[in-house]
Amino acid sequence: MKHTITLIPGDGIGPEITAATVRVIEATGVDINWETQILGSQALEKYGETLPATAIDSMRSTKVALKGPIMTPVGKGFTSVNVGLRRALDLYANVRPVKALPNVECRYPELDLVIVRENTEGLYSGIEHVVVPGVVESLKVITEKASTRIARYAFEFARSSGRKKVTAVHKANIMKLSDGLFLECFNAVAKDYPDIEADDKIIDNCCMQLVMRPEQFDVLVMENLYGDILSDLCAGLIGGLGLAPGANIGELGAVFEAVHGSAPDIAGQGIANPTALMLSAIQMLRHIGENEAAQKFEAALLATFNDGIKTRDLGGDARTAEFANAIIDRIPSGATATV
Ligand code: NAI
Repeated sequence: MKHTITLIPGDGIGPEITAATVRVIEATGVDINWETQILGSQALEKYGETLPATAIDSMRSTKVALKGPIMTPVGKGFTSVNVGLRRALDLYANVRPVKALPNVECRYPELDLVIVRENTEGLYSGIEHVVVPGVVESLKVITEKASTRIARYAFEFARSSGRKKVTAVHKANIMKLSDGLFLECFNAVAKDYPDIEADDKIIDNCCMQLVMRPEQFDVLVMENLYGDILSDLCAGLIGGLGLAPGANIGELGAVFEAVHGSAPDIAGQGIANPTALMLSAIQMLRHIGENEAAQKFEAALLATFNDGIKTRDLGGDARTAEFANAIIDRIPSGATATV
């Protein structure tokens, strides 16, 4: 079956890691027609807007996108395209697996947990204003609808992936109304899943527990900002941002992207680690039903790590394209994954 998928190479290291990832996907034999789109500053230059209708329309019609990182200016300039995109397509669940890979030096080689981040509201609502000069307000929006929806997603995800426990992460001791509502919705949903253990942790304690005893966690569900921060913390536990994949899932579509950003400090040098995007692409292949291709990709990626081939961020010397070549070499030849 031929699939049509939106491809957003993105900024910084984005084009390098998406090119490497697309080459490996194609080597699995899966048949994809890529619709390439631009967002952010590139789109601003070409179309006069950062989130052009042509890109949104493409994603609405293909329902699946593989996306590189998009740069967001700090403290000024346009608002986050990533946040805007997730809201425009109502991609409410950001699923970020945290799993160590073989031969990667890290604090927790056995770690295997999943962060489920609410993707549409919280402090990322972007509602900010100047009250009087020198005083600004940023509004944190928490709704019963979105909190219940993400809690249910987390429990369903836990059940369907054979996981045993879901932990809600919050700060309801201080933000009694907003995080209080999030926790209340979580506890209400938990009652429908007696087969899954449910508990909760205050975010600051949770950070410490993640660093000291992360094996106690299985699935963690939280609002937007906490999810953003804890994802990077967890990436650090397994060897860094180059290894942390993600999927943004909604009722109408899904966008697969790495946790990391555009890494301007190493962009254009051909040394970025494409693993996080590749792991996201494997999630994507499973999402579109190409399980055999996903399996081939994953096995070849693991074999590459097992053979000690790594990019520079992990202490190796493989360049982005060489790393992709090593994976392709480990995909069984003559394989035509799908029909
Ligand atoms: P970053 O994630 O781009 O980089 C942080 C550090 O990790 C840098 O030292 C970088 O070199 C390294 N790193 C990240 N990914 C890597 C990879 N694949 N291989 C090797 N090293 C890697 O975070 P930063 O610098 O805070 O953000 C840069 C830009 O990315 C900002 O404009 C930010 O808004 C944007 N961003 C976009 C995201 C998205 O599109 N989903 C997510 C996070 C940030």
